[in-house]
Amino acid sequence: MTDTPTASTKIADFVATLKPRYENPKAAMMPLLYEVQARKGFISPEAESEVAELLGVSETEVHEVVTFYPLLFKRPVGKYHIQFCHNISCSLVGAEPLIDLLQKELGVGPGEVTEDGLFSYQRAECLGCCADAPVMLVNEELFGRLTAEKVKSIIEQIRAGKKPENDTPLTDTDETDDPVLSVNFKIPNAASIKIAESRGAYKALRKAVREMEPQQILEEVKSAGLRGMGGAGFPAGLKWSFVPKDPSLPKYLCVNADESEPGTCKDREIMRRDPHRLIEGAIIAARAIGVETAYVYIRREFYEPGRILEGAIQEAYDAGYLGKNILGSGFNLDIFTHPGAGAYICGEETGLINSLEGKKGWPRIKPPFPAIKGVFDKPTIVNNVETLSNIPYIINNGVAAYRRRGTEKSPGTKLFGVSGHVKRPGIFELPMSFPLKELIYGVCGGIRNGHTLKAVIPGGSSVPVLKADEIDVKLDFEALQAAGTFLGSGGVIVMDDTVSMPWALEVLERFYAHESCGQCTPCREGVAWMYDILRRMNNGRGRKGDVDLLVDLADNIDGQTICPLGAAAAWPVQAMVRKFRDEFDQLCS
Ligand SMILES: Cc1cc2nc3c(=O)[nH]c(=O)nc-3n(C[C@H](O)[C@H](O)[C@H](O)COP(=O)(O)O)c2cc1C
Repeated sequence: MTDTPTASTKIADFVATLKPRYENPKAAMMPLLYEVQARKGFISPEAESEVAELLGVSETEVHEVVTFYPLLFKRPVGKYHIQFCHNISCSLVGAEPLIDLLQKELGVGPGEVTEDGLFSYQRAECLGCCADAPVMLVNEELFGRLTAEKVKSIIEQIRAGKKPENDTPLTDTDETDDPVLSVNFKIPNAASIKIAESRGAYKALRKAVREMEPQQILEEVKSAGLRGMGGAGFPAGLKWSFVPKDPSLPKYLCVNADESEPGTCKDREIMRRDPHRLIEGAIIAARAIGVETAYVYIRREFYEPGRILEGAIQEAYDAGYLGKNILGSGFNLDIFTHPGAGAYICGEETGLINSLEGKKGWPRIKPPFPAIKGVFDKPTIVNNVETLSNIPYIINNGVAAYRRRGTEKSPGTKLFGVSGHVKRPGIFELPMSFPLKELIYGVCGGIRNGHTLKAVIPGGSSVPVLKADEIDVKLDFEALQAAGTFLGSGGVIVMDDTVSMPWALEVLERFYAHESCGQCTPCREGVAWMYDILRRMNNGRGRKGDVDLLVDLADNIDGQTICPLGAAAAWPVQAMVRKFRDEFDQLCS
């Protein structure tokens, strides 16, 4: 994103700056396509041919990428292109009436451009800012906590040729005592390296390169019991240990900053408020694994966090924490950001790797696992932003300090993003095993507008829902699994007694149907089918047998696909129907 050159730069020169970043020039496809889009407004068939020639690949290879990703425009868009989130967290707090209003104000439907060429809009699947819902992006600027008045005013101001006022508050954050990840969240300008260094940034890196061997770093992270925070909870140190030790073999680290699971909005706050913690964690991880090139795969919709992160990476280069011979240690590392293009599947680690290589984001069959064969077929570690951001603390303070919080198997702290019907949505750092009930009623102030709790999705949209009487549970990997659900990505979605479960499930399945990459038949056909059934149920056309058909479909998708997106679509169906069956039956008599 910082790669965007001035319009006068020759496109071939731009390509020349990109190519050295990648073992295979095809991987420059996405940044190049964005550049073409920025220059021409959209990607025409002629532009596809030009890109093919510049990268030395076939037109078909370019076309399959352009048609796969929603944020690569195939047609002209307005001067102001609006993406309005209609996913669960935004819909719970009134996105739909606002989208209706926007459509009325603009006088065009989704995908259309106003006659004056000023506006176009599209419905967006989760923008990753769930605690600030409802949200929309106007070009690269995010507007949150939207109301009808705000939407109207933004449109009016743009029409009047003004820059619209943006009163979106900074996402509410808090932590209990002894935080690990959010200590700098409320410090002004903590993204600047001077402030970050004054608060201890890069101290752990000094220790890691001067006092520790790579294997010692790995053992320390392993002993700390750091779990992957991207959803699956796989132990980070153990994953690193699978990478072959052969020093002659290039290896890669991919930082997963795709953050697209609805309800999840924590990595964004790390990148915008304390990017040096992530960068330092990534450098230490790279040192432990023997990596000399790392990529941060960041969803394109994170314009502001992306700019902040890229500024911080440049500062880290300038300070000698990145580049050649880091801190005189002989260790070299480059970190490059690489943009996604609006496809949730690219958060799945092998979809991410294919996307990074300039292909459509189809997940790969495992094994081989990325630790053996990943980016450019080389050993690769994919780790979530939050996972890596824990590492400086572990290196500075040691295993015992990290393990002081949480449980034996789920140690440390976790960032929870809370959205939906609580009085105080936000991002909260809590010790692992914090009680869910206390998060909702204590930290988040309870249910808003005098309503009562109906249900909670505790770990991002894919995990099984909990009923109000099931929330006496601790927030850690093991306790939630024992309760029949998952900690997942820590995106807690709270629903009050006004919510219809068939409606909520339709919103969720619309997302999964839209995001299925189409590679596996059970997911491609089955999830779309589940969405169709839910749509007709909610539109008064439910048929006898529909509820059983829905569950049957979910059961036949779960576990039958290359990646877990199919399961992620099936679990909400299985749990919601089992726990709220009456509501579904009523629509199908
Ligand atoms: C459909 C799907 C989407 C995913 N999206 C993300 C994501 O946005 N961010 C993330 O870190 N992990 C995501 N994951 C998990 C990754 O595949 C992978 O497990 C993770 O990045 C590993 O990092 P960790 O071990 O540090 O958690 C997703 C998985 C699936 C199946």
